[in-house]
Amino acid sequence: MKALVLAGGTGSRLWPITHTAAKQLIPVANKPVLFYGIEALVMAGITEIGVVVGDTAQEIQAALGDGARFGARVTYLRQDRPLGLAHAVRVARDWLGDEDFVMYLGDNFVVGGIAGVVQRFRTTRCGTRLLVTKVPDPSAFGVAEVTPEGRVVRLEEKPARPRSDLAVVGVYLFTSAVHRAVAAIEPSARGELEITDAIQWLIDSGHDVVAETIDGYWKDTGDVADMLEVNQRVLADLEPAVRGAVDSASVLLGPVRIEPGAEIVRSRIVGPAVIGAHTTVRDSRIGPATSVAEGCAVIESDVEFSIVLRDARITGAGRIEGSLIGRAVQVTGAARTPQAHRLVLGDHSRIQLAS
Ligand code: TTP
Repeated sequence: MKALVLAGGTGSRLWPITHTAAKQLIPVANKPVLFYGIEALVMAGITEIGVVVGDTAQEIQAALGDGARFGARVTYLRQDRPLGLAHAVRVARDWLGDEDFVMYLGDNFVVGGIAGVVQRFRTTRCGTRLLVTKVPDPSAFGVAEVTPEGRVVRLEEKPARPRSDLAVVGVYLFTSAVHRAVAAIEPSARGELEITDAIQWLIDSGHDVVAETIDGYWKDTGDVADMLEVNQRVLADLEPAVRGAVDSASVLLGPVRIEPGAEIVRSRIVGPAVIGAHTTVRDSRIGPATSVAEGCAVIESDVEFSIVLRDARITGAGRIEGSLIGRAVQVTGAARTPQAHRLVLGDHSRIQLAS
């Protein structure tokens, strides 16, 4: 059995971060979201992994390499344009051959892994197997109509009037029958080859499609609020460890991980929180629910419920919360309440100013 991991796409909901970075590499508790998915596949016994890449191919390849560090063998499959999830399956047709496979969306986060569902798929071999979960706002997702026995009778992509509250999770188990389906469908109104249309084609052609409800936490990390929520969720299970230097005037409260080479001076770190390698925190307060990546500096600032990417510098910024701060960003406080703000902001930046 193989795995097809989708790590291309546009990532428009995470602009401007995704102008210069792959969304699948945004760190959660200082580890790229994509790595959690690869680890879950390896834990499920799948080591032959095809990774679909688009414009951010180089960055994804630099991060995953040949997969050996995960105990996997990674093959890269280039998708020239993000024409949809079913299009990615078309791109992977030759590499997949006629093997069964798991399709895993590289920006999805499934707590508890997928070993159980892969095992059930392997033993029953009953066709396509989907994971679904109850959500309060189904119209934002692919929605499955499922019989009490778990048989999927209808799938709709982001329906205006959903027929159920079961969202399709970004992990799909397919046999080679799916190749006929993705070859048969036409682009949707938004111009994409939808995997939901391919699965509906399988249902309409008499193939068995079953769904099982996922027990654990699942999140599609589509936007900033999702990223912060996943970060908070993962940090909640953090193993505390102090591998950097913490001076006697600093206080660590709750589960806190300080990576090697980090330096905490006259500061308060409120867990759960992780401070990356070679990051300096001085006269500041970090956390809770905050990840600061490596090589950052946080000076005379408070940062909570946030993700800070590597090499960012936050100085005299007052209190920052619920924020996703990109690589090498500089945030600087004004000496006093300014009459005018001075800003250097990239395209599509989003900031909130106190007027
Ligand atoms: P989505 O989040 O559905 O799409 P997107 O990345 O284009 O994001 P946005 O809606 O914010 O513009 O994609 C799910 C995953 O599949 C994600 O990891 C990107 C990947 N993907 C591909 O690899 N190829 C594609 O053609 C598409 C649409 C997505």
